[in-house]
Amino acid sequence: AQTLREAAASSGRFIGTAVADHRLNDSTYRNIAATEFSSVTAENAMKWESIEPNRGQYDWSGADRLMEFAAQNNQQTWGHTLVWHSQMPGWLENGNFGAAEFRQIMNNHIDTVMGRYRGQMDRWDVVNEVLNEDGSLRNSKWLQVLGESYIADAFRAARQADPNAKLFINDYNTDGVNAKSDGMYQLVQRLLQQGVPIDGVGFQSHMILDQIPGTYQQNLQRFADLGLEVVVTELDIRMNTPADSTRLQRQAQQYRSVTEACLAVSRCTGITVWGFSDRDSWIPDWFEGEGAANIYDENYQPKPAYYALREAF
Ligand code: XIL
Repeated sequence: AQTLREAAASSGRFIGTAVADHRLNDSTYRNIAATEFSSVTAENAMKWESIEPNRGQYDWSGADRLMEFAAQNNQQTWGHTLVWHSQMPGWLENGNFGAAEFRQIMNNHIDTVMGRYRGQMDRWDVVNEVLNEDGSLRNSKWLQVLGESYIADAFRAARQADPNAKLFINDYNTDGVNAKSDGMYQLVQRLLQQGVPIDGVGFQSHMILDQIPGTYQQNLQRFADLGLEVVVTELDIRMNTPADSTRLQRQAQQYRSVTEACLAVSRCTGITVWGFSDRDSWIPDWFEGEGAANIYDENYQPKPAYYALREAF
């Protein structure tokens, strides 16, 4: 295969990337995003703070741009994300709302955002990062004001807003079998028992070099066995910087083993990397002293991890 997307297609999978709206004007960036990937996720442009910075005032510019880009390049689309405790606009985060109003705000958001892209969006992260590390529910404003039912309500509203989109719950540190993924497993089972419309589970997979869980495949499989689609949604593998060639080789191996875990699970339909170049990565801003987490270097040259990923598919 000449490209990641050809390689992934040969295994019946998609390979996606998060796209940074402000980088799409760069022709090198744009060209790689267009040719190497068969799915795109907005890195920030579809988050609540981007779309509705002031109540009732919508800014669709970045989100629309990405949808056009995907259509031009025959790519699948991943909507990220509807209900999340982070990157909420100030009016929402700090507003004093009663339960009825807050529920109405949530449902209306789901309806408005999903409605705009109805029929064009393949999958949506309906709720993002709802769990604590011990597997209990995160004490977000959503939980505080609405109680656990907000999760089921969000999925029901989402199904109504776009019956064709596949609906996902997405989280980090749920990649191997651990307390948090046990919590996810129990939550998803509860939702299924209640007849809540959920189609899949996203495993963000923001990983640390040399710490890929040995139970990765087993964990994906147990969710797949519930009849759900499973997807690696935000893959990156960070290390202390500066990187060296030994560690970049190990990183390549670890990109390969994540890909192999997905391929071993028939309901694992694809992998999205959280950006492709070390130049644009969120990691150095969020994890001090770490970086080099992506599959292209800062000059947009493919790293060993790029080739490992392409071969593994
Ligand atoms: C990150 C983006 O990459 C950054 O640009 C932004 O400043 C913060 O959010 N989990 C998620 C993503 O679901 O939305 C986050 O993206 C990374 C962690």
